[in-house]
Amino acid sequence: MEQERAFDSVAIGCDHGGLTIKEAIEAYLQEAGIPFTDCGTFTPDSVDYPIYAAKVCRLVLDRPGTAGILCCGTGIGMSIAANKCRGIRASVLSDAFSAEMTRRHNNANVLCLGGRVIGPEKAVELADLFLHTSFEGGRHQRRLDELEQMEDLLADSAGSCGGQPGKTAEKGAGKRPKKAKK
Ligand code: RB5
Repeated sequence: MEQERAFDSVAIGCDHGGLTIKEAIEAYLQEAGIPFTDCGTFTPDSVDYPIYAAKVCRLVLDRPGTAGILCCGTGIGMSIAANKCRGIRASVLSDAFSAEMTRRHNNANVLCLGGRVIGPEKAVELADLFLHTSFEGGRHQRRLDELEQMEDLLADSAGSCGGQPGKTAEKGAGKRPKKAKK
């Protein structure tokens, strides 16, 4: 039995490192009749991934029912950028189990993939799974509510994350110990 689609449409974007898998995913979307907006980039010239992450996340937030797909070399930069946007839950992954679970448990709305990590075939498989898996709700919704509260908490505390406000780290703290010279 064919699985129902969890999203109405897709906003997709990439940098130069993710161009090949973005094109493969677009061919799949076209074939499957899934409407999508291509936010670029369109050439292999070197570009900065946060710009494309922002374009895709804007559409995901503005158009309910839209999933985001972001491709860069590793998927990591895209996921860091996307997760800075309030309301975005972006997951970088390279296996089918995670693609399914991040929909079922995390209700992820943006999928991040690495064109230097996986090939076009795997990218299509993961995109298809992501787009056709629904959120389970229940206890997982409570956890998403807690995540949402964290967005306010971090905004209020200006990102102190429980550290001692006003206390400056001692000189040299956090530095790696130097290796002994041989
Ligand atoms: C670009 O060289 C590369 O850094 C980018 O595609 C991505 O992998 C960043 O996380």
